[in-house]
Amino acid sequence: MTDPTLISLEDVGKVFPMNSSLLRFMRGLPQSRVNALNGVTFEIRRGETVGIVGESGCGKSTLARCLVRLHDCDSGRIRFEGNDIAELEGANRRQFNRRVQMIFQDPYSSLNPRMRVRQILAEALSVHRMRPKAEIPARIAELLDTVRLPSDAADKFPHEFSGGQRQRIGIARALAVEPEVLVADELVSALDVSVQAQVVNLLLRLQTELGLTVVFVAHDLRLVRHISHRVVVMYLGRVVEIGPTERIFSAAAHPYTQALLAAAPEMDPRHRNTKPAARGELPSPLNLPPGCAFNTRCPLATGRCFTERPELRATEYGHMAACHLVDAHAVSA
Ligand SMILES: Nc1ncnc2c1ncn2[C@@H]1O[C@H](COP(=O)(O)OP(=O)(O)O)[C@@H](O)[C@H]1O
Ligand SMILES: [Mg+2]
Repeated sequence: MTDPTLISLEDVGKVFPMNSSLLRFMRGLPQSRVNALNGVTFEIRRGETVGIVGESGCGKSTLARCLVRLHDCDSGRIRFEGNDIAELEGANRRQFNRRVQMIFQDPYSSLNPRMRVRQILAEALSVHRMRPKAEIPARIAELLDTVRLPSDAADKFPHEFSGGQRQRIGIARALAVEPEVLVADELVSALDVSVQAQVVNLLLRLQTELGLTVVFVAHDLRLVRHISHRVVVMYLGRVVEIGPTERIFSAAAHPYTQALLAAAPEMDPRHRNTKPAARGELPSPLNLPPGCAFNTRCPLATGRCFTERPELRATEYGHMAACHLVDAHAVSA
């Protein structure tokens, strides 16, 4: 039997040095650093869609970029089929780059404006020598059909398409190399709500038809609920809650997840609410508070939350949350 775990993240950390001021340098003070990822551990299973949610600045994009090796992590490791991706070289590295594809929020900036769609897709097909030259035109037609673009789209330039259509071109380009994993970072955040749903439904269909594994990063919880089998909630570079989507939405155990859900816009515009996700501001990732990172904003924080960092542990509903009060919450949720 094949291992259901495709990708595992083990205590992954990523630190960015900040532009230090000249003054700090002259005084011999240490450089400031941003802890974008702080010990992230979870698994991604073959064929599932994992939603990654959290406020802006929580480390979602950094995580997505580490997954495709656009960043190397500074501590911990990411394994793909058991192999540490930081150690992949040569043909193995090229295979990894082909099998795990990132699709971007703004395809306009990632699609060459001077190339027709046909050239964009042909280029992707030839980089990994996916097809003999003679088969490329048929494969381009097939890819356009897969993402539901008309066949005459091949002769147009990116600027001739709407935002949603450009997103489809970006997806077709990623699919050209027959990946197994798609990492989508805020894929539809810049699109109108009606177009968002179409692109997300396309992704859902591709996921089932092609058996893809999808990592769907978004701050919009409605989209995440619609598309994901499991949800990972991040706060300041840490996973604070993880579990099957319906559990997270019906029995959120972490006060941060509860705040995110309370602030999420309703489908019905009459009930839309514009409250921030949690009271107070996101603390600076330059100096994280000791104990639970959420303690500065948590309405329920007690003494222990200010001294001891909570680890992820099982709630009575069978998913995991990193909160000292998790049992109490699970009962009242
Ligand atoms: N290349 C970078 N250099 C310095 N800091 C960065 C860089 N990328 C991200 N950060 C910082 O890391 C933290 C997490 O950012 P990011 O992963 O983009 O979060 P999200 O996608 O959840 O909004 C933020 O504080 C951000 O400013
Ligand atoms: Mg981001």
